[in-house]
Amino acid sequence: MSAKKSSKRKTSKTVSPGKIAAKASANSADGEFERASKAADFIFSQTSLRPRIALVLGSGLGAFADEFAGATKIPYAKIPHFPQSTAIGHAGKLVIGKVGAIPVAGMQGRVHLYEGYSAKEVAFPIRVFARMGVKAVILTNAAGGIKREFSQGRLVVISDHINLQGVNPLTGANDDRFGLRFHDMTAAYDKRFREMTVGEANRLGIGMYEGVYAGLLGPSYETPAEIRYLRTIGADLVGMSTVPEVIAARHSGIRVLGISCVTNAAAGVLDQPLNHLEVLETAERVKGQFIGLLKAVIPRIAEAIA
Ligand code: HPA
Repeated sequence: MSAKKSSKRKTSKTVSPGKIAAKASANSADGEFERASKAADFIFSQTSLRPRIALVLGSGLGAFADEFAGATKIPYAKIPHFPQSTAIGHAGKLVIGKVGAIPVAGMQGRVHLYEGYSAKEVAFPIRVFARMGVKAVILTNAAGGIKREFSQGRLVVISDHINLQGVNPLTGANDDRFGLRFHDMTAAYDKRFREMTVGEANRLGIGMYEGVYAGLLGPSYETPAEIRYLRTIGADLVGMSTVPEVIAARHSGIRVLGISCVTNAAAGVLDQPLNHLEVLETAERVKGQFIGLLKAVIPRIAEAIA
């Protein structure tokens, strides 16, 4: 007899907390696949393009999507179940268009855990991409530089991450239609994509580094003691995004490229306080270089996933 049937026959009204949690998570996991499918269907009803590459454009980088040719712009508010961005510098539109001959989907801004969204909500757009048949996602973000060489304005390819956000988008019942219950994260950031990106950066004369990204919850910036701790455990960069999206992407079999723009030296690295304006200003200053790199990398990724 199924657990559902046996619980129906119970006369007692007391339900153990464990049972409520299991039921709630099973429902939400069931619903996530259908919700993502509905969002994907809606997006496909707005454009005839079928992108296999998606980009998440972080702070200040959204402008890249304004350059897509033949673009359809869809406000997140119109896409069924899509979370709404509240952060400054995040426009909140999905842009489907072409970079050269390659169809791409670009998110102008993302949502973050610190806005109060759950890890599943933050990762939802990635689930939608999975349902759209996207095979590669380029995640960009602003980050604080922990390693001293990672000075303001540097672009860094993410080689790995440390999840210190205390949450994971895959908790609760697993939906096998997305991926395995326990999926591998040993090569979360695609080695070939990383090599291509460093190669293209060299060709463009952009000094490019690789580093480990520590994902924290935010929204407060870190203390100098926290940054010393992060350096000790092997982090080179620190930020408040990306990790839930990477976990969901790998769960769904999507290959990942992560690139950080170092918008500031992390707390305590220099003898000066941090502020969000500086983060936005640096992202704006580096935007041209960042976009140039993305334009060079997209055709290489398209070849790699062909
Ligand atoms: N810490 C966390 N997140 C960030 C930072 C930082 O220093 N800079 C940009 N995003």
